[in-house]
Amino acid sequence: MESFSTVLRTASRGQHLAAESSPFLSDLLGGRLGVAAYARYTEQLWFVYEALESAAGRLAADPVAGPFVRPELMRLPALERDLAHLRGAGWRAGLSALPATAAYADRVRACAAHWPGGYVAHHYTRYLGDLSGGQVVRDRAERTWGFARKGDGVRFYVFEDIAGPAAFKREYRQRLDAVGVDELERQRMVAECNRAFALNTAVFEALGEEFPRTA
Ligand code: HEM
Repeated sequence: MESFSTVLRTASRGQHLAAESSPFLSDLLGGRLGVAAYARYTEQLWFVYEALESAAGRLAADPVAGPFVRPELMRLPALERDLAHLRGAGWRAGLSALPATAAYADRVRACAAHWPGGYVAHHYTRYLGDLSGGQVVRDRAERTWGFARKGDGVRFYVFEDIAGPAAFKREYRQRLDAVGVDELERQRMVAECNRAFALNTAVFEALGEEFPRTA
């Protein structure tokens, strides 16, 4: 039988491709958008990670979600430093979530409050992605907008306390494989992972409308 981590990866492969090749992300990574688009995207991430991480303390003791909650993953402090760099000291007053982002954050919050398995699906979709493709985004952002390597502006993508991302991802997949839920609940988690990808794609679509290609 396939491991749960493989099932999750396989089930989201098509949507991963769709998210990765969304016009906004392609334009952003292709250097066709200004730094304001990058800042707006970073701002949207703040809402998602605020939802994920404000629940982390409480879920750390949960038998299903607890093993995934790790201090070295926490992204909110890094996002806040990036936003201060991108938007200036008053960044917090200007924060605004796109409707698609608000819907995404609401869904994360609802899972965090009522459904640990669903929270794990969202956790996987974000953090394993950040540890993988996130490194591509960081590299392009540094080159396109001149941020210091692993410095302010791209700290979100730098996991200071994870020395070996490959080993970390391997262990993370082992925790997925060992998650203490039955087959039906695993299927529900796969469906929630698909929903998480769709919520991400919707945010990219909204950003694409706000920042059409300039060149
Ligand atoms: C810039 C666009 C992206 C690139 C270049 C990219 C690239 C990658 C690569 C190369 C991997 C494989 C890593 C490995 O096998 O260890 C990966 C995995 C992953 N990505 Fe992305 N990605 C992108 C966007 C996204 C987005 C938008 C999401 C969802 C929010 C996402 C979620 C994931 C997840 C969950 C995994 C882990 C799959 C698994 O092994 O279980 N990625 N990505």
